Amino acid sequence: MGNALPQLRDLDVRGKRVLLRADFNVPFDKSTGTISDDSRIRATLPTLEHLIHSEARVVVISHLGRPKGAVNPAYSLEPVAAYLANLLPTGEVAFGESCLGESAQVVLDHLRPGSVALLENLRFFPGEEANDAAFAQELRAFGDIYVNDAFGAVHRAHASVHALPKLFRERAAGFLLEKELSSLKRLRDEPPRPFVAILGGAKVSDKVEVIEALLERVDALLIGGAMANTFLAAQGLSMGKSLVESTKVALARTLMERAQKRGVKLLLPVDVVVATSIDAAAGTVVEASEVGAEQMALDIGPATAKSYLAAMQGAKAVFWNGPMGLFESAPFAAGTMAVAEGLAELDTFSVVGGGDSAAAIAQAGLTERMAHVSTGGGAALELIEGKRLPGIDALTGER
Ligand code: 3PG
Repeated sequence: MGNALPQLRDLDVRGKRVLLRADFNVPFDKSTGTISDDSRIRATLPTLEHLIHSEARVVVISHLGRPKGAVNPAYSLEPVAAYLANLLPTGEVAFGESCLGESAQVVLDHLRPGSVALLENLRFFPGEEANDAAFAQELRAFGDIYVNDAFGAVHRAHASVHALPKLFRERAAGFLLEKELSSLKRLRDEPPRPFVAILGGAKVSDKVEVIEALLERVDALLIGGAMANTFLAAQGLSMGKSLVESTKVALARTLMERAQKRGVKLLLPVDVVVATSIDAAAGTVVEASEVGAEQMALDIGPATAKSYLAAMQGAKAVFWNGPMGLFESAPFAAGTMAVAEGLAELDTFSVVGGGDSAAAIAQAGLTERMAHVSTGGGAALELIEGKRLPGIDALTGER
């Protein structure tokens, strides 16, 4: 048992400057330049509203994208400040054109109790990703209390997540971070049974550790997405031009053997949607054993979707991470949507782990129908894998 996580509701924030680390790393629509998924911003609102109502002076810090330690207007948080202002009861967010120095200080000097400022992208400085002590010290000067609500970033040992909180005597987890941890830890430590996991995405190599961790815990593991191709190849099927990680075929075989030894039901696609190009206007459903030499599998087929939904029936907990196919493209979205809709119908502890699967759930308008949709991609997986999370260790004072 580690130290307890300090709670926001135990802190008296009235009139104080609260440095709130949020994860406002949101996607933008390339053609319109507007925020295409605001889930991470909305998920932070309970913490922000609490701080506003408690008359704190709120200084939000975040990263956006990967500008690699240099100022790059393409990764500015300014549009996020404007967007957030429209969601807040105050209707206002002051924007600091840098997260350090004079331009930040001026904004903070004018911050009244119950109001919010957002500072520019932390990753415009190399000190952020380097977990640099001097960079953290400079940020320290902007707050009396530190609150971390950036679940999506707690797996990063970056300055604002790791070095900075340790400089505060008064620090706590925000409500989003608390909710994420309680839902995901429940799955990791005491999942209601039967527990079914459904994993997708492109590569086995990205998911090896989570598959290994889940094999210790689940009753059934359902695999989709391009990752399934590598497993099908390990069964000796020819996958044509499909994405197959040839160096991971042996590993896939080992994982299948391990599942069998542990009595975990491991399901693979029995049919797939194929096309000769990812730009094809339509796909064709074929049996998984019938993929032609020029074809690539781009989605699970309807029989597979049906069998996966049947395998989820009666589950008391379901964890889903990774799409079943190339869901961004309409001809190959049906498998992912079928899983999303099927999961929404179930009376189960349904947890969706960040990234693309969360985007698919949002696209289907089903976010509210899940027990929990994580705002963290990598962070959710690392937690399920049982790894230590630097941002949590810093809050609890463990490392
Ligand atoms: C994420 O999008 O998963 C988090 O915001 C972390 O971003 P990063 O992978 O660039 O560190």
